[in-house]
Amino acid sequence: MPNPEQIAHSARLVELIVDRIEQAGGVISFHDYMQLCLYAPGLGYYAAGASKFGAEGDFITAPELSPLFGRTLANHADQLFAQGLEPVILEFGAGSGKFSADVIGRLKALGRDLHSYLILEPSPDLQQRQQQYLQQQLSGEDFARIEWLDQLPQGFNGLVLGNEVLDAMPVNVVIKHQDWIELGVGFDGQRLVWREFARDNAATRFIQQIDEDDALPADYCSEVNLNYVPWCNSLAASCEQAAVLLIDYGYEQAQYYHPQRSSGTLMCFYQHRAHPDPLIYPGLQDITAFVDFDAFAEAAIAAGFAINGLTTQAEFLLSNGLLELMQGENLTEIEQMEYAQQVKTLTLPGEMGEKFKVIGMQVGVELEMVGF
Ligand SMILES: C[S@@+](CC[C@H](N)C(=O)[O-])C[C@H]1O[C@@H](n2cnc3c(N)ncnc32)[C@H](O)[C@@H]1O
Repeated sequence: MPNPEQIAHSARLVELIVDRIEQAGGVISFHDYMQLCLYAPGLGYYAAGASKFGAEGDFITAPELSPLFGRTLANHADQLFAQGLEPVILEFGAGSGKFSADVIGRLKALGRDLHSYLILEPSPDLQQRQQQYLQQQLSGEDFARIEWLDQLPQGFNGLVLGNEVLDAMPVNVVIKHQDWIELGVGFDGQRLVWREFARDNAATRFIQQIDEDDALPADYCSEVNLNYVPWCNSLAASCEQAAVLLIDYGYEQAQYYHPQRSSGTLMCFYQHRAHPDPLIYPGLQDITAFVDFDAFAEAAIAAGFAINGLTTQAEFLLSNGLLELMQGENLTEIEQMEYAQQVKTLTLPGEMGEKFKVIGMQVGVELEMVGF
């Protein structure tokens, strides 16, 4: 249960949300609600002070679980740099900073000289945490190569990385009544409630196309992510010669919008418990939706990227030396056991191995990307 301070924090965010709802005439889109819950300055889940990642937070991501994750990604990066890609990394949404530290450390161990490591992190609070953590973890020389950006660079050459970034983008919610409608969030005087938001817009048209043959049952509710097109367009516009690796949980479209997945993929995380109600505890819980990898790939191709492939996290990590990393060091027996457990969580089908996928793509270069 949240403590009184957290409840007061959430109440301040609810006040802001209710203001927006009133200004909008009674309802805002779920997209705008999720944007406020996660990113409202000083109040949103990612924009305010609480610890999110790891044991004391709300959920554990792969970099928090094991240093082997970032090191394996660094093995892949090293192979791209060996093929002539400029040794620069741009990381989206760097979380606690742990992934950056693992990648930079492993590249150094491989003798690879990184020119710079750029981080694009929309949350000022997380930026500050990343700076503190990385300053502690890295040598002064390595730390000096990291630069926090507040917008995409121009003419980027190098490798773009992002773990669990696409799932943190606000989505629109749609439901099939007689017709498809978009749901939004209103306020009934006491609590936040679901309300009809729109009947004919980009979100409903997207799902109507998916449901062309009327295969989805009545009351089917799911999400539509309209960020992929603008996001891929701006990334493509910023890249000259670049490879991109994004890791996230998601499905191809046939599974995403499967008739049986009738309540969508929206999930909330509060203190390591997952539940499906995004309208409670605004600002205190993470809200995420799975990635529609077909829609994402389509947006990427339209923006000018060539797709190298989509594979499972297990396949990708195992092809890029995960097991060798686990065995190749001077480890104590306890460390060996810990690493073995971490490898299981990262790769087993019932854990993160198949739920998480890796998509690889590139623009302006023709590189072999191992693992696809
Ligand atoms: C679920 S966390 C993952 C953090 C970290 N990558 C990890 O794996 O531990 C999502 C991160 O993405 C960031 N984020 C959300 N939208 C973003 C965007 N459009 N561009 C860059 N980062 C974004 C959030 O602020 C947060 O740092």
